Amino acid sequence: MSGALAGETALVTGAASGIGRAIALALAREGAEVVLADRHSAAETADAIRASGGDTWECPVDVGDEAAVLRLFETLRQRRNRLDILVNNAGILIEKPLLETSASDFDRLMAVNLRGTFLVGREALRMMVAGSGGRVINVASELAYLGRANASVYCASKGGVLSMTRSWAREFAPDIRVNALAPGPTETPMLTGGSTSPETLAKEGDNPLGRIGRPEEIAAAAVFLAGPASSFMTGQCVSPNGGAAMF
Ligand SMILES: NC(=O)c1ccc[n+]([C@@H]2O[C@H](COP(=O)([O-])OP(=O)(O)OC[C@H]3O[C@@H](n4cnc5c(N)ncnc54)[C@H](O)[C@@H]3O)[C@@H](O)[C@H]2O)c1
Repeated sequence: MSGALAGETALVTGAASGIGRAIALALAREGAEVVLADRHSAAETADAIRASGGDTWECPVDVGDEAAVLRLFETLRQRRNRLDILVNNAGILIEKPLLETSASDFDRLMAVNLRGTFLVGREALRMMVAGSGGRVINVASELAYLGRANASVYCASKGGVLSMTRSWAREFAPDIRVNALAPGPTETPMLTGGSTSPETLAKEGDNPLGRIGRPEEIAAAAVFLAGPASSFMTGQCVSPNGGAAMF
């Protein structure tokens, strides 16, 4: 396919659902070959990409499992030996009052959101350094800035993602650009649990634009960060959030 990313290979974690699925579709529309990495089947995403003429393949992984992440990159080396774009998107949310949050809840959440971002990011950056550079996009959350009652561990994990983003941006400049996305509430299974009740939509959409986001609106920001239009940006956080947090 032609497009700003034609000839490039992109890896998207958490590509089976929600924001990751939308980002994978959008990168493929720009011409990138997209590797779909999820702990669940991403076959539906793959079918949608192929149906619109895009190029894709699946590589199942649990991003918190170091051996599985190393296997993913071994497969990538054997099949392509190049990586231009990483979207570190896989994440989970555990909402509980702090006083009911166990150490295993903390470990389970950090294993995906922070350790997973670290493991996949480290291996992707290793490949990009050995190749001809690249772009990394880490998916954080507006909650890293705002905080949220009953979600402090999630918020802390996303604060860690933002902090790693800035350090990686400094460590790997100028050949590799590393930026973050901090979406506001977005209509995905993580937010709605499959039910978009008017109460949920009204509560989550309490921002100047008066609504929650669509996955495609977050994907548009990812395409911007992945492509040449953001060539003078690194270490930044782009925040499609309806204006809930302003910087
Ligand atoms: N939806 C929102 O309102 C919102 C807002 C801000 C940030 N985010 C962030 O956006 C990202 C995507 O969230 P979403 O809303 O699309 O959620 P989602 O639940 O729809 O999708 C998450 C995907 O990640 C995958 N995943 C989970 N754990 C994994 C693991 N260990 N290894 C590999 N894959 C794994 C899931 O299988 C799923 O396909 C997350 O990092 C989330 O924290 C979401």
